[in-house]
Amino acid sequence: QSADDSSELLLEQAAPKAVSSELIQREVARRRTFGIISHPDAGKTTLTEKLLMFSGAIQLAGTVKARKSGRHATSDWMEIEKQRGISVASSVMQFEYRDHVVNLLDTPGHQDFSEDTYRVLTAVDSALMVIDAAKGVEEQTIKLLNVCRMRNTPIITFVNKMDRETRDPLELLDELESVLKIQCAPVTWPIGMGKTFRGVYHILKDEIMLFAAGSERADQQFEVLKGIDNPRLAELFPLEIEQLKMEIELVQGASHPFELDAFLAGTQTPVFFGSAINNFGVREILNALLDWAPAPRERDATVRSVLPTEVPFSGFVFKIQANMDPAHRDRIAFLRVCSGHFERGMKLKHLRLNREIRVSSVVAFMASSREQVEEAYAGDIIGLPNHGNMQIGDSFSEGEFLQFTGIPYFAPDFFRTARILNPMKTKQLQKGLQQLGEEGAVQVFKPTNSGDLVLGAVGVLQFEVVASRLKNEYGVDAVFEGTSISSARWVTCEDKKIMADFERSSAGHNLAHDAAGNLAYLATSGVNLRLTQERWPDVVFHATREHA
Ligand code: G4P
Repeated sequence: QSADDSSELLLEQAAPKAVSSELIQREVARRRTFGIISHPDAGKTTLTEKLLMFSGAIQLAGTVKARKSGRHATSDWMEIEKQRGISVASSVMQFEYRDHVVNLLDTPGHQDFSEDTYRVLTAVDSALMVIDAAKGVEEQTIKLLNVCRMRNTPIITFVNKMDRETRDPLELLDELESVLKIQCAPVTWPIGMGKTFRGVYHILKDEIMLFAAGSERADQQFEVLKGIDNPRLAELFPLEIEQLKMEIELVQGASHPFELDAFLAGTQTPVFFGSAINNFGVREILNALLDWAPAPRERDATVRSVLPTEVPFSGFVFKIQANMDPAHRDRIAFLRVCSGHFERGMKLKHLRLNREIRVSSVVAFMASSREQVEEAYAGDIIGLPNHGNMQIGDSFSEGEFLQFTGIPYFAPDFFRTARILNPMKTKQLQKGLQQLGEEGAVQVFKPTNSGDLVLGAVGVLQFEVVASRLKNEYGVDAVFEGTSISSARWVTCEDKKIMADFERSSAGHNLAHDAAGNLAYLATSGVNLRLTQERWPDVVFHATREHA
């Protein structure tokens, strides 16, 4: 059934079926929702594809790859839009494996869309971090890990491309620990690398899995030898075996043994070595996700925290994406279910608007298609049609006022002012910017002492997307111009009088309201920001803010 059969749906609607709390508990326990993160080119797409192939969700290699969204930066907005459109279907993928329901959330690789990426991470219960063994920790990895840290998200690490010349594995672990400030617990250890990559030793199982290159089949089984003292091992690799034993001894002495609790607390990451393109080490990752990664967890809301096993439905929107059908202005709001049971045709309360809505044509995201949602449980991601009344961070429930917290907005690094070519279109420009701002496509600031809107973005590509969407969706031709602003910080102060003084001072000329009405300081340089902070020690300058 297609996602657009909403009329038929409404006719079919019956009263929601009562779902027992035991059923909900069972369904929650078998769910795993994780995000896959990496610096571009480390092998995220390849690994995603292999995970889907192992689970049987897709049969052919190349399916995900073909839909991969803008890996190499292009300034051609048409291309960006097209790629982003295609990636709607592939950014959330649900599949079953070993009687578990796995929700895999992709994160846009291009750093210009990193704000989207960051918010995707608020919707997951664990993350899979892919590292290129030749490159080690890269810039995006650091940023993404810092976001995971905000919620202590448990992280599994996959060191990829061992079939190539790589850095020394011990040195890599050292770098992971010192740069990312996370304890590493190697679970598998590589034997050789590049042309002499022989396989991995599974430290916990005391098994050696032998590497064989070039495997496009999902059911590829690698030969496994039991025990590091297995004589066959010495026969096979007379040159490497002593070295391996020495290394294992060293690793076991110098690194941390795997501890489930430390992993769940987000302070330790189990590390696996492998080669995604050769299917090698992928099954171990999938098993680690099912065996160790947490099922949906409790979530904080403003009034209380919410257990995933509670019977009433609740959830929040973490991402909004334009539907790419140019004939419609529809957008899809990605909602993470936090508790209870969602059923097709159900009525939901939109808490910010304090309004009940009946959502028809809600979609689920399968590995290779979008399908009509029949039902969903905590951990699942469902797509609600959004006609402009949903924002990132909006919460939905069956009636209780539960505003979920922890959905961040990041202080933008790039700023532009918008100027329109046709002054008659000022209203459309403002409406367009307001809606795109609510959607999170760009941040919109209204300076307190001028009428020009200032746009802020985490990556410059965002401006191009916004310009193209203003044109296509709002009929506004706008040009963006550089500004003297170099950074923004949301400002708060517990002391109302000090805040009022601050607003009246010369610093007040740099204040602006964002789309949600929060006050922000727009600094003209790093020095300007520092001096202002020094001058106003009681005012807090925030680099992130929460959904209003
Ligand atoms: P990304 O999503 O993290 O950006 O990375 P992606 O999977 O696209 O992988 C980036 C490149 O690394 C690709 O090569 C991919 O084939 C290669 N790769 C992934 N896993 C491995 C591995 O285990 N070993 C080796 N040797 N290479 C790997 P490309 O040349 O950029 O693309 P393509 O021409 O192969 O499609």
